[in-house]
Amino acid sequence: MRVEDLVQSFKKQFGETEVEPAVFFAPGRVNLIGEHTDYNGGHVFPCALTLGTYGVMRKRTDSKCMYFSENFPKYGVVEGDLNHLVYEKRANWTNYCAGVVKAFEDRGFKLDTGFDFLIYGNIPSGSGLSSSAALEVLTGTALAGVYGFDDLSKIDIALIGQESENAFCGLNCGIMDQFASSCGKKDSAIFLDTATLEYTYVPVKLDGAKIVIVNSKVKHSLVDSAYNERRATCEAALEKLQTVVDIKTLCDLKPEEFENLKYVLDDEIMRKRAKHAIYENARTIEAVAALGRNDLTRFGELMNESHISLRDDYETSCEETDLLAEIAWSIDGVYGSRITGGGFGGCIVSIVKDEAIPEFKRRITSEYKAKTPEIYVVEIGDGAHAI
Ligand code: GLA
Repeated sequence: MRVEDLVQSFKKQFGETEVEPAVFFAPGRVNLIGEHTDYNGGHVFPCALTLGTYGVMRKRTDSKCMYFSENFPKYGVVEGDLNHLVYEKRANWTNYCAGVVKAFEDRGFKLDTGFDFLIYGNIPSGSGLSSSAALEVLTGTALAGVYGFDDLSKIDIALIGQESENAFCGLNCGIMDQFASSCGKKDSAIFLDTATLEYTYVPVKLDGAKIVIVNSKVKHSLVDSAYNERRATCEAALEKLQTVVDIKTLCDLKPEEFENLKYVLDDEIMRKRAKHAIYENARTIEAVAALGRNDLTRFGELMNESHISLRDDYETSCEETDLLAEIAWSIDGVYGSRITGGGFGGCIVSIVKDEAIPEFKRRITSEYKAKTPEIYVVEIGDGAHAI
């Protein structure tokens, strides 16, 4: 959908006034490596996509917040109010936005009036490519632009998005997705230390290869509660380890240190979860170094190891994504392949040589039978911005 069409649609839904609405974009993300490390003080390596969510916003003269999604026209215009910023089931997708408004207000950025907001996104929802983080970052970027909150940095917008998700919508996610959506940079991935929020942009020059995403089209139920449970187990493991070592986060430990201390984790599940986080952090640091010397072979091996760890130790992969990864691993010209994002369905991400892409598409399509998979050869785009 073109931007002019979105503005036209906005005017059709909300009417014309003398104030022109403003248009914004926030991308989805794919994480190349560093999974379930972001709430354990570890490193992540995501990049923003060119897929994402567009938003058209204009101030109103009353306190209402009126939302319309081109993706869910069946919900019609959903009405909210600045004087009633609480999670409501009936409010559906607009809760992500209301949570952002609430986080702005909690930080002292009060909105003097409500707004009209129309959105349209092309990230497949429920695919693990962060359509909800994109919506939060889009809302934050639009509010900052339309209300003139110029003091807010891109990192602030990411933190506000995470707060909406944690405090308003009830998913105790880390900072990775919102950070990637807000701070992404074209053709670079973000090497982010989630303990300090220090980051560097690493150019992703895949000479003769592409990032290819396959959507398994499955999303198993209870994803949010399983996610929160993984996080709680890691926190419990940290507490136990802190009785024998002075650390602030699980990822303060190197794999060798963990091997010497893991005896304090008498619970097998807890030990496996902590092991994943600590080894995944080490893999991520090594993968970034490998990419820096153009060693795609090593980068790919580490992606594969990441998948195996998510399958066997963290147990956030599932039959469908395991099958997709196995098909990918067996194809000549695939450097590496792994489940990406929170898990329990969603997408796998692979690095595939250009000449192998047709075969990759053919094999995945013919051998993955659970659903009709969707395959995207993606580009790395910029973080959220006004258009
Ligand atoms: C989800 C969360 C992120 C991160 C990933 C797993 O995408 O939103 O914060 O924890 O899962 O790496």
